[in-house]
Amino acid sequence: MHDMRISRRAALVGAGAAAAWLTSPARALVEAAGKLAAPGFVDELVSRMSLEEKAGQLQLMASAWGGGIATALNPPQENANFAEQVEEARRGQLTGVFNGNGARMARILQTAAVKDSRLKIPLVFAADIIHGHRTIFPVPLAEVASFEPELARRTAEAAAFEAAGAGIDWTFSPMVDVARDQRWGRGVEGGGEDVLLGRLFAAARVRGFQGFDLRSTEHMLACIKHFAAYGAAESGLDYNTVDVSEARLREVYLQPYKAGFDAGALSAMASFNEINGVPSTGNRWLMNDLLRGEWGFQGFVVSDYTGDEEMIAHGFAKDGRDAARLALLAGVDMSMQSGLYRQYLPDLVRRGEVPQAVLDGSVRRVLAAKAMLGLFEDPFRRIDEKREAARSMLPPARALAQEAGRKAIVLLKNDGDLLPLPRSGKRIALIGPFASGQHDLVGPWVVYGDDSKAVDLATGVRGALGGKDSLIVAQGSGVEEALAGGIQAAVAAARQADIVVLAIGEGAGMSGEAQSRTDIVVPEPQQALAEAVAATGKPIVVVLKHGRALALEGAVANAQAILATWFLGTETGNAIADILFGAHGPSGRLPASFPRASGQEPYYYAHKSTGRPNPPGDLQAYKAHFRGIPNSALYPFGHGLTYGKITYDALVVPARLPMNGEIEVSARIANRGSRAAEEVVQLYIHDRTASVTRPVRELKAFRKVALAPGGSELVRFTVRASDLSFYGARGRPVIEPGTFDLWIAPSAESDGVHGSFELVA
Ligand code: NOJ
Repeated sequence: MHDMRISRRAALVGAGAAAAWLTSPARALVEAAGKLAAPGFVDELVSRMSLEEKAGQLQLMASAWGGGIATALNPPQENANFAEQVEEARRGQLTGVFNGNGARMARILQTAAVKDSRLKIPLVFAADIIHGHRTIFPVPLAEVASFEPELARRTAEAAAFEAAGAGIDWTFSPMVDVARDQRWGRGVEGGGEDVLLGRLFAAARVRGFQGFDLRSTEHMLACIKHFAAYGAAESGLDYNTVDVSEARLREVYLQPYKAGFDAGALSAMASFNEINGVPSTGNRWLMNDLLRGEWGFQGFVVSDYTGDEEMIAHGFAKDGRDAARLALLAGVDMSMQSGLYRQYLPDLVRRGEVPQAVLDGSVRRVLAAKAMLGLFEDPFRRIDEKREAARSMLPPARALAQEAGRKAIVLLKNDGDLLPLPRSGKRIALIGPFASGQHDLVGPWVVYGDDSKAVDLATGVRGALGGKDSLIVAQGSGVEEALAGGIQAAVAAARQADIVVLAIGEGAGMSGEAQSRTDIVVPEPQQALAEAVAATGKPIVVVLKHGRALALEGAVANAQAILATWFLGTETGNAIADILFGAHGPSGRLPASFPRASGQEPYYYAHKSTGRPNPPGDLQAYKAHFRGIPNSALYPFGHGLTYGKITYDALVVPARLPMNGEIEVSARIANRGSRAAEEVVQLYIHDRTASVTRPVRELKAFRKVALAPGGSELVRFTVRASDLSFYGARGRPVIEPGTFDLWIAPSAESDGVHGSFELVA
């Protein structure tokens, strides 16, 4: 529906390798692979399977090895018994397991399936490889702050290299749910609030995980999740109801999924939520009409963890049997963890409540995917204990984690150029619960990685200071509870120092699944710590740790410098130190708006105008704003400073854009500072009048430019009429003539340079 050309251009100019990929013969191969029908032998195999074996091919279970990582990360399951799971593999009652325990476990199960089961169909091994396997990269939201999709492709590829080396064929990633309510905890796993970024990062991650050949032992199958609109949960409460217009669904929420499928992803996960009254797991329109019909998806769909069974609690299915029937008929091919498919599908087919052809279709899709993964050729191709160890946390992966960490950091504020800090001559007090210690480093959704192998902030800072120990470290507070004597010790440390670095924010468990917050502030004991330290009058650099955009208050908001550093993974301390001391300049930009107060949520830059927007300037009565708070962000989407001094001028916008034509727009971006800088130049558009109201701004393209001190660059973008299309009143994409505002700007709410053009019929 949306024309991708501007975004493709953004990828082209912003990321050379991504561009090369778009035009490569290899991409054609991936596309062809996506369109492959099941190979002939699959039909033959299906014709020989019993109903029980077919249902078994559609049942995925958490690994039962030793109680299991899988169950620890999901609601605990009783009776996890690995010996019984091996028996299930022998009986052909299992299609595979997820979040298992490495190659040794996989070998035992695979051996049972391919040596001892009747039809010897290989198992598939899945896992939540969300932002790394052993080497942990920044959380996905942080990586989006790089505005560099190619970086996400590289980290996904590096994650696949380690994970596929450990016997994993299939990742439950990328998560591409657009998240516009920062209370929702799962925004941390995805691409932020914006449609264009969501699309580009979804596609990049799929390409990274899958590579060019799904049989590669360095790649794995990607899974687009959570389909669909999981991020639109009412009030940001995880699992909550989604009620959304079809226009909003198509223009916003569906876009990144579509981009992920277009990039070749051959599996999808149904979301937990309902959409307009129908749970995704039982939603025929979503899975069959839209995904398979309209979009031509050739892969298979898995439920989320007990998602089929949860349709009972939704009030959509009568019981487990009904849930299995509804899910399969809706087009959910594989059931995760409930066991309902293997329990009920054979009988449902025998009694004619589910057509045999529907069951066979799902089995065929699952077997075809196993074939594409090369599992019928060699079921052990990714299972190699030596390779598992040999690929773990190699120096190139750690270097990539540090690069990605650096690029994810956003400089929100830098009054008086407090940053970068000098490496000598100043005493630094590093204060806060995240100042030191190997905890809360890798962040949420890590199955195999480990805080104990990650670099904490104090270690990174000491490394940058070259061992000259001018650093005083004080914890000051716990994450959510006060620490006895903590504030006094922190204040004493601050008094001895010239500069305070205050490492505060959210713990790793405060975002992620089921971690929605009503108030997205720095937890109270840490806020108290910040107030006490600020009262010393020392200059403060706040280093925030967070899995969402936060509402900053008091001494935190008023600090001279603020760095948004998310959860950066294995190389956290080194990446932050690189930016703190200026070995590299900050280049990240916010992928989600920081509101002025929690109560503004859901706040996103691409909101509508309303009939009573407050004009620029003071708040006016009876205009759209909260009491005392403007309807704008404290730090908007796209915001991020550099160590340079960036200016925008010399906008050139042709007056008229013909329908079916294109115009080139440009601006001069200069660095008038004394330090090198990387600026993310953003192109926004607003359709002033349309038959369906349009957002106040929409990001249409961006480009990252490196500017030496005193340097400048003419940055050009192409705008095509087709880039101005939207979902019209008749439920179709339309392009309407009229006046369009255009900004080339450093964020979604800054002016940059602003002009307009007419789209003429
Ligand atoms: C539930 C989560 O919603 C999903 O994202 C994850 O992939 C599964 N559990 C499996 O761990």
